[in-house]
Amino acid sequence: MSAKKVNVAIAGATGAVGNQMLECLEENDFPINNLKLLASEKSRGKRLEYKGETLKVEVLEEDSFKGVDIAIFSAGGGTSKKFAPCAAADGCIVVDNSSAWRMDPDVPLVVPEVNPHAIADYTKKNIIANPNCSTIQMVVALFPIYKKSGIKRIVVSTYQAVSGTGKKAIDELVEQTRSLMNFREPENLVYPHRIAFNCLPHIDDFLDNGYTKEEMKMLNETRKIFEDDSIGVTATTVRVPVIYGHSESVNIETKEFLSAEDVKKLMAEAPGVELVDDIANNVYPLAIDAAGGDLTQVGRIRQDESIENGINMWVVADNIRKGAATNAVQIARILAEEYI
Ligand code: A2P
Repeated sequence: MSAKKVNVAIAGATGAVGNQMLECLEENDFPINNLKLLASEKSRGKRLEYKGETLKVEVLEEDSFKGVDIAIFSAGGGTSKKFAPCAAADGCIVVDNSSAWRMDPDVPLVVPEVNPHAIADYTKKNIIANPNCSTIQMVVALFPIYKKSGIKRIVVSTYQAVSGTGKKAIDELVEQTRSLMNFREPENLVYPHRIAFNCLPHIDDFLDNGYTKEEMKMLNETRKIFEDDSIGVTATTVRVPVIYGHSESVNIETKEFLSAEDVKKLMAEAPGVELVDDIANNVYPLAIDAAGGDLTQVGRIRQDESIENGINMWVVADNIRKGAATNAVQIARILAEEYI
């Protein structure tokens, strides 16, 4: 489908996801008329490259969005809460990567492989939300199974890369590793504990029910995307010393029986999924292989022998690409092709 050339802004262009956003727009050969890069006062005058051109970063302000058709936000929840309504009021459609708008009933929460139809609801607030990175890769893998046999319950444990926290966290892992290798005391600036050579069962804030916000996002967002409040999800989200690529151990109970072979066939044909499952040759999804790509890799598919209709799988994707930038650019592309 041909897309009209549009004016695009990236809010948070200097961050880990914002940088990736530029790369994804370029790879996508996105039909851009004018590209505006926005960040905080700290980045005023900074320059970034797009398609061989050098663009100056501007300071994000309330009137930054006049004449902009699509604004992709990745500058944290507070910034989205404050500035997305300004952009929307100026007629710009916001694709927001933060958690600020995800559960708003008037804001569609979209993964293009799963619920592209929901994009049409953007008109309610002129805002579309990109789900949490851990949710995106999980629902991309599970949707074909959900359609085929229904899913009663999901038990998921995540192994999440530090890039999800932003550039500062990448620096912290590298610095702490360097310090430890040189017998120096590492500093904890971003996380409450050392992340180098460690695993932290703590992502985002703790809630009164003992879960973290990240864990509850996996429940609430999955229900919203599948449009099914009957599905049970229990999550344990863990930060691990990996820079790019989230891994997930996913256990599901389906409504109807599916064999491991049935699931492998579904995964081989699923949009956005790559089946990586050849244990005889030690082949299974790895963060280092998924990083840099847009596919959600699925492997280690096997029957859960402890229940009647259970499957276990290992799901890996690049959290900055499919978990954030790629998903947002896919949504923006559909907007440019079908709605603007
Ligand atoms: P800046 O680099 O000027 O601070 P990351 O997730 O990698 O930490 O990146 C966050 C992104 O969000 C950066 O581009 C950052 O800009 C931007 N950002 C954070 N707070 C604001 C704000 N109040 N106004 C505009 N941009 C912001």
